[in-house]
Amino acid sequence: MFHVVLYQPEIPPNTGNIIRLCANTGAHLHLIHPMGFELDESRLRRAHLDYSDMTNVREYADIAEAFQSGGINRLFALSTRGTMDYDSVAYQPGDGFLFGPETRGLPAEVLDSVPTDQRLRIPLLAGNRSLNLSNAVAVVVYEAWRQQSFKGRS
Ligand SMILES: C[S@@+](CC[C@H](N)C(=O)[O-])C[C@H]1O[C@@H](n2cnc3c(N)ncnc32)[C@H](O)[C@@H]1O
Repeated sequence: MFHVVLYQPEIPPNTGNIIRLCANTGAHLHLIHPMGFELDESRLRRAHLDYSDMTNVREYADIAEAFQSGGINRLFALSTRGTMDYDSVAYQPGDGFLFGPETRGLPAEVLDSVPTDQRLRIPLLAGNRSLNLSNAVAVVVYEAWRQQSFKGRS
C-alpha cells in the first residue's frame, strides 16, 4: 500500500480524480490544509464519488500532522525540480508521494525538507512545464503498484 499526499490542493476535480485513483489502487490519500475547497457530500456527489471511495482519505491541518499520524515510511517529493526520474526508484509498500498545489508547486522549504535523492521528476519534452496534478499522481502510483506486480488486483 502506498500513500499519496496532496499539499494544499486547489482544484476540486483534480482531487476528485485522485480520490477515485486511490480507491482503485488501494493507495491512502492524505490531504493537507488549507485546501481550495471543502470535501462535502454535495461535492462528492457531483464528482460521482461516494463514501466507499473515501475510506482511505484523511485530512490534516498541516504537513507535520500528516507525518506524525499518517503511517508513511519513506517520503518522495514530486516536482519538476526533482533530481531523480520517478522510474529509477525501487518502491516499497509504505512509501509516500508528496505533490504540490496546481498553481504553485511545492514551496521551496517543503521540497528542501526531502532528501535530494527522494525528489522525483516525471520526464517531459523539452520546453514543457508540468503535468496536470492528477495525471502526475496516476503516473507515479501506477509505477509503484506495477513494481509490486499489481498486488491485490482483480
Ligand atoms: C500542475 S503541477 C504544478 C506546476 C507549478 N506551476 C510548478 O511550477 O511546480 C502540480 C504538481 O504536479 C506534480 N508534477 C507535475 N508535473 C510534474 C513532473 N513533470 N515531475 C514531477 N512532478 C510533477 C508536482 O507535484 C507539482 O507540484
